[in-house]
Amino acid sequence: MTDSDPQLIRHATIDDLDALAAMESECFPAAEAADRSSLCARIETYPECFWLLIDGEIVMAFINGFATDRRDLTDDMYEDAAQHNPQGDWQMIFGVDTAPKYQHRGCASALMRKAIEDTRAAGRKGLVLTCKDRLVGFYAQFGYEDEGISESTHGDVVWHQMRLTF
Ligand SMILES: CC(C)(COP(=O)(O)OP(=O)(O)OC[C@H]1O[C@@H](n2cnc3c(N)ncnc32)[C@H](O)[C@@H]1OP(=O)(O)O)[C@@H](O)C(=O)NCCC(=O)NCCS
Repeated sequence: MTDSDPQLIRHATIDDLDALAAMESECFPAAEAADRSSLCARIETYPECFWLLIDGEIVMAFINGFATDRRDLTDDMYEDAAQHNPQGDWQMIFGVDTAPKYQHRGCASALMRKAIEDTRAAGRKGLVLTCKDRLVGFYAQFGYEDEGISESTHGDVVWHQMRLTF
């Protein structure tokens, strides 16, 4: 993406639910994907912790997660939107999704830069995410440090926990 692209980044509303649920199931295997009811609860509770890359009416990519004072990302967080603490120290990242047809053109990177900028502006300590081996290098580009294997067993996968500390 360049500054001259017409795309914009905004937070979510409940009207985005269908598009986000469809993208989540396109991007992740069923055991890892957030289902519609989980995404609905997240949007209703923390719409400001969703970042969507939009082109016209189309959602090309999105990032979501909640804020908390807890330091580590644990599996209970995915399904429990009520744990969101608007003043929380850490911005957790639960999902980074780019629709397959828009991948490889900088969408996730643009969203990640914006999420980092907004998290810094919110006065938090940083961001935490979990990812598979193959994406450790992707997140390291933004300043995330690999803290090793997470206690998460989400989707029966081995996850690295990565943290970007301001
Ligand atoms: C991972 C994902 C979000 C990336 O989205 P994207 O919009 O294509 O990403 P970007 O175009 O911003 O960045 C991709 C670039 O980052 C760089 N990159 C990717 N993996 C990298 C790595 N391990 N090390 C270093 N650089 C890497 C490459 O330059 C890559 O370019 P390429 O795709 O042309 O090879 C997308 O593939 C996706 O939705 N996958 C399915 C869901 C998923 O796995 N999400 C992540 C959960 S942790």
